Amino acid sequence: MRDVSKVFPRGPKPVEKKITVLTCYDFMFARILEDSGVDCILVGDTLGVVYQGQPTTLPVTLDEMIYHAKAVRRGAPNTFVVVDLPFLSYQVSLEEGIRSAGKVMKESGCDAVKFEGGGPEILELIYKLERIGIPVMGHIGLTPQSVNVFGGHKIQGKAEQDKARLISEAKGISDAGAFSIVFELIPSTLAKEISESVPIPTIGIGAGAATDGQVLVIYDFLGLNKGFKPKFLKTFLNGYDDVSGAVKNYIQEVRNGSFPGPEHSH
Ligand code: KIV
Repeated sequence: MRDVSKVFPRGPKPVEKKITVLTCYDFMFARILEDSGVDCILVGDTLGVVYQGQPTTLPVTLDEMIYHAKAVRRGAPNTFVVVDLPFLSYQVSLEEGIRSAGKVMKESGCDAVKFEGGGPEILELIYKLERIGIPVMGHIGLTPQSVNVFGGHKIQGKAEQDKARLISEAKGISDAGAFSIVFELIPSTLAKEISESVPIPTIGIGAGAATDGQVLVIYDFLGLNKGFKPKFLKTFLNGYDDVSGAVKNYIQEVRNGSFPGPEHSH
């Protein structure tokens, strides 16, 4: 399903059906996500950390995002796919932001872009892109491209003034024409309050159960990210142990001569 208004319906809260989003960076996983019926795939710039092994998302380039988005599009041709604009591809000027978003849409064939923040320049960019015909998903709370300002991955919106700022950013993003907003790492009571105050669906990660949908990073969700155990994360598979177990079995079978057997030989 690639109709933005069907995947992310505007209107009364709570939404009729919670929206499921997972990140994805390659063809094979995209095919599994589509075949399994996830509502939306996010080609997140988290790929810088979980795919490339970088310490933050900051080094990711626009061309790298497009490379991964193309692979995901091939694996999930019928699923709504959102692509992150990476650090410094949209913050320098309105014109550069439009060009970056347009390049992603032209070259990847995906359905929408997402970028972080809720300041006046970001709202202007959302407004402009909507008018051009590029659907935008917003992202507030802990915005990882600003990790150096936050001083780490800390919960946002605890202090009264931050709370008020987040509420006003969400309203601004919605008014500017975004179809949805991601809330990352904010208290669940605040997420509920903001979610109920905007007409567009909200997607949470570390923001409690009251948002209209949830997103998780695929490798975290599959338990492949060894040692990564933030409170908000539930792992739905013991991926690291399962893959490691398979590799150990392979090593053993090659070494003891039981693989390849006659059934694998020509
Ligand atoms: O880049 C990403 O994967 C994200 C999600 C964590 C929401 O922005």
